[in-house]
Amino acid sequence: MNVGIDLIHFATSDYYLGLDTFAEEKGIDVNKFYVGIGQERMSIAPPDEDIVTLSAKAAAPLLDQIERDKITAVLLATESGVDQSKSASAYLHGLLGLHKNCRLIELKHACYAGAAALQMAQGLVHANPNEKVLVIAADIAKYDVDSSGEATQGCGAAAMIIKKDPRLLVLEPGSGFYADDVMDFWRPNYRETALVDGKYSTKVYLNSLKETWKHFTINTGRGYEDIDYFCYHLPFTKMAEKAHKALTKVAGVSLSDEEMKALLAPGQAYNRQLGNSYTASLFIGFASLLDNASEDLTGKRIGLFSYGSGCVSEFFTGVVQPGYQDHLFSDDHRWQIEHRAPLNYAEYLQLYHTQPEGLYEGQVVLPEYNRGPFRLKAIKDHKRLYERREA
Ligand code: CAA
Repeated sequence: MNVGIDLIHFATSDYYLGLDTFAEEKGIDVNKFYVGIGQERMSIAPPDEDIVTLSAKAAAPLLDQIERDKITAVLLATESGVDQSKSASAYLHGLLGLHKNCRLIELKHACYAGAAALQMAQGLVHANPNEKVLVIAADIAKYDVDSSGEATQGCGAAAMIIKKDPRLLVLEPGSGFYADDVMDFWRPNYRETALVDGKYSTKVYLNSLKETWKHFTINTGRGYEDIDYFCYHLPFTKMAEKAHKALTKVAGVSLSDEEMKALLAPGQAYNRQLGNSYTASLFIGFASLLDNASEDLTGKRIGLFSYGSGCVSEFFTGVVQPGYQDHLFSDDHRWQIEHRAPLNYAEYLQLYHTQPEGLYEGQVVLPEYNRGPFRLKAIKDHKRLYERREA
C-alpha cells in the first residue's frame, strides 16, 4: 500500500522584522545575514498568535478539500507548547470543529518532532488503511535579545494530511536515524526563550547528518545518485549548503557551487523569508521545493533530513506523484509571505519580547494584532480562550 503526504499547506504570522532593520539597529553589516546565514526576514508572532492559531491557519484550507469528519488523529509536533499537560492538538481540534471520534496528541523533540509525527502517522495508516491523519509541525522560534540566535528567529506551521494513495508524495520504507545526549540547544520549563551553544549546535547538526546518512545507506541500500532533491532542517537557509557539502563529502560526490545552488535554492526560498520555524522548517522547505522547482518533479525522489537538537535526527525519502501540481497551495503561500506587515525594532521588542500584563496571574486580555481567521483572545482564570472569525 502506498502511504504518504496527500496535501501540505503552511501558515506564518502577519508581521515580520527585516534583517536590514535588525542590522541597522545592531550596527552590523547586513550581508552577514543576507549572505552569511542566508536570511532576509523573520516572521514575528504577536501576543495573540501562538502555535495553536498558526496550526489552525495551516490546517483549515486542507480540511476544506477533504471530508473533515474522516480525520482519525491529530498529531501536533512543537517545542513551543502552550500547556504542560493539555495537548495543543485538543485546542486545535475544538477550533477546527473536528469529529469527536479522533485521537489527539502533542509530540516533542526539538525540531525533530514533525518527522516523528509523520512516521507515527504512516504507522497508523499501514495498520488501518482507513486512517486519515492530520500532522502539524508548528513553532515560534524565540531567543534572547542580543544573543547569537536573535537573527534566526521566526515562526510557522506546516499542516499535512497523511493517508493511503497520497496525491503529493509516497513515503518509502526504510530510513536512517541517529541520537546523542548533547546540550546544543534547549529551553528549560521556566524560560520563554531558547538557550543555544550556536557554533557547537552547527557541528552537532553536521555530525548527526553524516551518521544518519551512513545509517540510511546501510538500511535502505540507496546512495546519493538515487536521490534527486534534498530538503534539510533549516535553522537558517545557509545551513542547507553546509549540510549538503558535508553529505556530498561523505558520499564521495563532487558538486560545483552552481550545481549546489540549483539543487538547493527552490527548497530554501520560503525559509529565507520566514526565519526558523523549528520543527516546521523542514516541511516548509519541502513545500517550497514543490512550489518553486524549475522542472516537473513527477517521479523524483526527495531526501528529507530532520534534525532536532539534544539530539535526534532522521533521513527518509519519498517519491513525488503524477499530477501533484494540481494540489498545491503555492499562491496562498506566496500571498501570506508578501502580505506580512513590517515592524520597526521597537515594535518588534514590544510584540515579541514583552510579557502580556497579568500572564502569571492567568488573567490577560490581548489586543487584536493577529489579522488571521484564528486568534488567542484572552487568558481567563488560567484558561486560554481562542476565537474563530468568520471570513
Ligand atoms: N558578509 C558576508 N558573510 C558574513 C559577513 C558579511 N559581512 N559577516 C559574517 N559573515 C559570515 C561568516 O563568515 C559566517 O559564515 P560561515 O558560517 O560560513 O563561516 C556567517 O556569516 C555567520 O557569521 P558568524 O559565525 O560570525 O555568526 P554568529 O557568531 O552570529 O553565529 C550562528 C551564527 C551560530 C549560526 C547563530 O546564528 C546562532 O547561534 N543561531 C542559532 C543556533 C542555530 O541555528 N544552530 C543551528 C544548528 S542547531 C539546529 O538546527 C536546531 C535549531 O533549529 C536551533
